[in-house]
Amino acid sequence: MKAQILVMDFGSQLCHLIARRVRCLGVYAEVIPCDASAEELKRNKRLKGLILSGGPDSVFEEGSPQCDKGIFDLGIPVLGICYGHHLIAQYLDGRVISGTKKEFGLTNFMPKESRLFNGLKEKEIVWMNHGDTVSELPPGFHVIGSTENCPIAAFEDTEKNIFAVQFHPEVTHTVKGGRIIKNFVKNICKARKDHDVAQMVPTIIGKIKEQIGDRKAVIGLSGGIDSTTAAALVDRAIGKNLTAIFVDTGYMRKDEPELVKKTFSSWPITLNIVDARERFYSALSGARDPEVKRKTIGKLFIDVFEEEAKKTGAEVLVQGTIYPDRIESGITKHASTIKSHHNVGGLPEKLNVELCEPLDWLYKDEVRAIAHELGLPKELIGRHPFPGPGIAIRIIGEPTRDRARIVQEATAIMEEELARSGYYDKASQALCVFLPSKTVGVQGDARAYKDIIAVRIVTTTDFMTASFSNVPHDILERISTRITNEIREIGRVVYDITNKPPGTIEWE
Ligand code: XMP
Repeated sequence: MKAQILVMDFGSQLCHLIARRVRCLGVYAEVIPCDASAEELKRNKRLKGLILSGGPDSVFEEGSPQCDKGIFDLGIPVLGICYGHHLIAQYLDGRVISGTKKEFGLTNFMPKESRLFNGLKEKEIVWMNHGDTVSELPPGFHVIGSTENCPIAAFEDTEKNIFAVQFHPEVTHTVKGGRIIKNFVKNICKARKDHDVAQMVPTIIGKIKEQIGDRKAVIGLSGGIDSTTAAALVDRAIGKNLTAIFVDTGYMRKDEPELVKKTFSSWPITLNIVDARERFYSALSGARDPEVKRKTIGKLFIDVFEEEAKKTGAEVLVQGTIYPDRIESGITKHASTIKSHHNVGGLPEKLNVELCEPLDWLYKDEVRAIAHELGLPKELIGRHPFPGPGIAIRIIGEPTRDRARIVQEATAIMEEELARSGYYDKASQALCVFLPSKTVGVQGDARAYKDIIAVRIVTTTDFMTASFSNVPHDILERISTRITNEIREIGRVVYDITNKPPGTIEWE
């Protein structure tokens, strides 16, 4: 029986990073609501360990998320992180005090002897983000680490196998965070490596067959890895009953319809290219708010799909939604909505077709592993992610047809220069954003008064946090020179030097 680690969600966006870190160790992990009952967990024979996530609340707030205290008597190892750390102290008769000294950001952590901290040095950098602090240990526990402002930054009860840390081991800023999670999962929970998504391809195909049966389905292709992988899986499951639809919204990358046609030319799949550019431009006319743009695009996408589904007699709509799309759309109970990704948050309440989302439990790197297993082209597997709403959310203000063309041209130039210099594969995502702010310049001998393109190139492993890329200046210079030379509406190019957080990868 395959091992399972469950992450109880107390509302932190980061709780899904924890699950991803565990999966990277080859152990299956899932995020569950924090109010799952101990009884229910007891029946789960695969369960090897529980991780209580952080969360934005204080344990003192009314209505703050709670969990069943019975989880501490299941005999299953528990690790509490940040809010989870406070909750363990509070539930097991320790003491938590409210924000005397808040800690935010990188901090020196001094670990003591503990199985949780095997392989750590006397001083390690950790990432903290808390207001409340544990001031007294619960009976039977002892301190296993401290920071300058937080004497009880980690504690444990080795008999009950309950551990708690004030900092966040799941973020890459905590240098030995991966090691700490590995110590918990492998040494304390004794979970063996038995989760390999590539090996699960036949099971995934089997599940799709089971869901769709002999009904017809449609899938929206975007040219990106998620929808293409979903299409490849469903194609294997139901063959000619699948029709792929590429909706040209006018907000895709330059020449995308041609590229999609070429990619799928050798597949035995029916591909319909629907030119819906006019409909999208007119639906978005006057739209400025990013959420309105996302919702409008999401709704129109679905309308087009429903029309196509009717034509093909399809009853099922396949989508390439992946786990992070659901996370950031606030699908879990206590998570706050950062952005409604069009293929989740933008769906209308009533759908006339059934949804099939075979990748909705997978992270991007897992989708890549599946794509690789399915033999999809290497260039596709390595392609940067592209948001569902496309460049409509890379145009600040109204996404007019002209502005869309400008962003398409600028992006094509940037991608060409990055590929030419071998930098495309080093970056995780690269984008151009149109800023409708005129600035003064000189072009030729004359005064110019033109708009701005912001170039954003980031490096990330999980897309939940990201750093701006340290791109060599000569590459940036070529991008800037070409954009201002080749796109007459642009007079200035700026490079975005914001990390995520506090920024997000996209500008909207
Ligand atoms: P942010 O901007 O939230 O982006 O840091 C994280 C990742 O998600 C992509 N993204 C989207 N994908 N629909 C999508 O399908 C959306 O509305 C959307 N917004 C952001 C973004 O490109 C990055 O890869």
